[in-house]
Amino acid sequence: MRFDGRVVIITGSGGGLGRSHALELARRGAKILVNDLGGSLDGSGGSASAAQRVVDEIIALGGEAAANSDSVATPEGGEAIVQAAVDAFGRVDVLVNNAGILRDKAFHKMDATMIDLVLDVHLKGGFYVSQPAFRVMREQKYGRIISTTSASGMFGNFGQANYGAAKAGLVGLTRVMALEGADYGIKANAIAPIALTRMTEGILGDLAGRLAPESVSPMVAYLAHEDCAVTGHVYSVAGGRIARILVAETQGVVLPSVSAEAVRDNLTEIDQSGDGHADYEPLALSEEVVIVAKALSNAV
Ligand code: NAI
Repeated sequence: MRFDGRVVIITGSGGGLGRSHALELARRGAKILVNDLGGSLDGSGGSASAAQRVVDEIIALGGEAAANSDSVATPEGGEAIVQAAVDAFGRVDVLVNNAGILRDKAFHKMDATMIDLVLDVHLKGGFYVSQPAFRVMREQKYGRIISTTSASGMFGNFGQANYGAAKAGLVGLTRVMALEGADYGIKANAIAPIALTRMTEGILGDLAGRLAPESVSPMVAYLAHEDCAVTGHVYSVAGGRIARILVAETQGVVLPSVSAEAVRDNLTEIDQSGDGHADYEPLALSEEVVIVAKALSNAV
């Protein structure tokens, strides 16, 4: 699966997962805009050298790349990142939203700055870079957007209210981009990776040795490729194990007389999935409305 002639933007690719994605796609012939602010894990500081180092690595491999150190966390930064790719290579085929920071704290102690900074980089950053990229892709009727969510956002994680909420928000953004991009050859998907990087140093235990960032990048390459057959999907990707994370709903019940008591008395059936209780996986709000309409009319 080659990427010759394709232009790829990878945010936060000066290290960790982003660097690994950049090398994987460059090896397959893509031209890469390596974006990285070059700051520390909590988002402070910055240096253009992080992005430049990865560009140097790609060039040493015989690939093509350009460096950019704008922040994803402002509308101007997002515009500048996409413009840098257009200036360097003339188009944008793939965007990987990967930049990220952490400001962990128990929810009751989290201050407004910690909330703002994390939402700004992960969630608003997703908007600020995807929007100008989406416009270019829409115009050229082709594009692939891969956003990086997290098990923290999908399933929850102690001490990461800011990060989990931002990562879950990216899934909402992904699903709407998938719908709005469908007529324009744009596919938008998300990955929830687990990999050994500076973000996870010391917390992966015995599994760390099996969770190289390089085991995540092939999935990104698939989702970034012309052959990608899915849109609006979310995948857990860790150490070569890949699984789809579903946004599903149970069959549910139609309460003949809806009341708080009826909810209490029917909760098991409302909550239960599997075992003969058909689950639904709507891929758009409109599909959920059809499911609700059918349930209500069957109950009449
Ligand atoms: P990392 O810290 O090595 O990479 C994140 C990169 O984003 C850094 O190079 C950083 O300088 C850059 N960055 C931060 N703020 C930026 C900004 N405003 N503009 C541009 N670049 C910025 O960590 P890692 O693990 O490689 O993280 C990559 C992505 O994967 C992140 O979105 C992270 O939340 C996500 N992720 C990672 C997991 C893991 O197990 N490592 C688990 C789940 C999600």
